[in-house]
Amino acid sequence: MSDSTASAYSCVGAETGLRSAVDDFYDRIHADPSLAPYFAVVDMVTLKRHQVDILSAATGGPQKYTGRDMARAHHSLEITNEAFDRVVSHLNATLVETGATTAPSAPCSARWLRCGSPS
Ligand code: HEM
Repeated sequence: MSDSTASAYSCVGAETGLRSAVDDFYDRIHADPSLAPYFAVVDMVTLKRHQVDILSAATGGPQKYTGRDMARAHHSLEITNEAFDRVVSHLNATLVETGATTAPSAPCSARWLRCGSPS
């Protein structure tokens, strides 16, 4: 783990901070009428756990992500570029508010979630 990734993880408050950030992130999503329908029948406990783990891994923390790969998790959801941009915007806003000095860069488009999707 490099110094910069270690500080990114500690900057977002480690496990406790990420849990709080993920709660805030999905509160924002459920309050967004254009996104809430995507999450209407989702097991939010598992999703939040996996989101904490993947953000930990991305910021240099110790948690291991054990969920599905991104293509498999999203391939049947018909995510539009507009919905993708709104989710990334909520995620960035959440992480900035939790104290990250820089927002994570957004992957370029919803196509990123479909790359390598199982057919
Ligand atoms: C940076 C972009 C995104 C990341 C990093 C991300 C990450 C994740 C992760 C880690 C999971 C859990 C997978 C699992 O439990 O196996 C997940 C599931 C899910 N994501 Fe995303 N996601 C992103 C964008 C989106 C977008 C744009 C939408 C919809 C507009 C979306 C909707 C969902 C839904 C509905 C699930 C639950 C699927 C299910 O349980 O069947 N995600 N995502």
